[in-house]
Amino acid sequence: MSVYTASTTAPVNIATLKYWGKRDKTLNLPTNSSISVTLAQDDLRTLTSVATSKSFSEDQLWLNGKLESLESERTQHCLQDLRNLRAKLESGDSSLPPMSTWKLHIVSENNFPTAAGLASSAAGFAALVVAIAKLYQLPESASEISKIARKGSGSACRSVFGGYVAWEMGSEADGSDSKAVEVAPQSHWPEMKAAILVVSAAKKDTPSTSGMQHTVTTSDLFQQRIHNVVPQRFEEMKKSIQDRDFDLFAELTMRDSNSFHATCLDSYPPIFYMNDTSRQIVKLCHQINEFFNKTIVAYTFDAGPNAVLYYLQENETKLMAFIHQVFQRNSGWESKFSKQDLAAFDSYFANTVAPEMAFDLDQDMHQGVSRVILTQVGPGPQDTNECLIDEATGKPK
Ligand code: DP6
Repeated sequence: MSVYTASTTAPVNIATLKYWGKRDKTLNLPTNSSISVTLAQDDLRTLTSVATSKSFSEDQLWLNGKLESLESERTQHCLQDLRNLRAKLESGDSSLPPMSTWKLHIVSENNFPTAAGLASSAAGFAALVVAIAKLYQLPESASEISKIARKGSGSACRSVFGGYVAWEMGSEADGSDSKAVEVAPQSHWPEMKAAILVVSAAKKDTPSTSGMQHTVTTSDLFQQRIHNVVPQRFEEMKKSIQDRDFDLFAELTMRDSNSFHATCLDSYPPIFYMNDTSRQIVKLCHQINEFFNKTIVAYTFDAGPNAVLYYLQENETKLMAFIHQVFQRNSGWESKFSKQDLAAFDSYFANTVAPEMAFDLDQDMHQGVSRVILTQVGPGPQDTNECLIDEATGKPK
């Protein structure tokens, strides 16, 4: 039996201009355009292998070692679109194996714990769609492929690109112009770093899919956001990236996170994603920027309490002097920084910051945080020789 396989990795992306609200639930068409930074894959990525063979009897998915259902409408949409494109190829070239009619085996693994509460659906759907597109040898561009990933999970369309990415909302009813595009590659602004403060949540948050629908139908402020705030901000943020203007990029990012969470609070009944620790982190970032009289850090929060801090490499010591001071008891430091680096942060804090500091640091903040993930802007989906499927059996290795 011939088993054909393909594998890819795909990254996580964290929006700096948030997608929140759908104008079409089935096609995942958004009510506003959004922008994100793709994060490096050594820390956060999904690896997906796919296989197809005439001999397979059903579509099957193994996620992090467990057999999972492929029945969701979203997944079915993605598979159908990919099979349609493959069928088109086959109809023009009779030498191609008729893969569009064969079943698929999909094996997918994240290199980060799902418990961290980091959106894994973006990397997951991007990896699924890119891996099958590769298996089918589809000639479509990344933006075309992003439209299929979008149907899996809206934010997944942005994980099809590396660097700085925009999701253009489009206006067509069939979604044919709602796609991800590159704003700038990673190499345009490689100095962008991210520190994720994983905030411990007592209970599960409202899932983003139902949360955003609730906001669309109940919040008045939401209308103001999508009509009068985001369109202009979308253009300004793209320009701040093109100009490598961190000051502006950071302010827009923080304002947009606040605007998104304000529409959650304005929903009725309200939705709370940020908790006390999240709010303490917001305050700390503003104190840090005030201390240096310069915007050196931007915070952003998704549909949960975790904080993602964006900053530039050139300001690492200044920022980490504070962040290490407060969060040094949390895990994650040693894998990214040497003992000398950490000592340099501490001595910068003791010698330069502490004597000038006009506010008290809340040393209890670390109790609300479980770990720190230190990462940076990264590339899009990557080819890999690693394959999670045994080519002899078509089953997970
Ligand atoms: C707050 O992409 O997870 O992270 O399209 O329903 O799957 P679905 O939602 P999803 O929502 C992400 C929301 C967000 C903002 C963002 O990533 O832009």
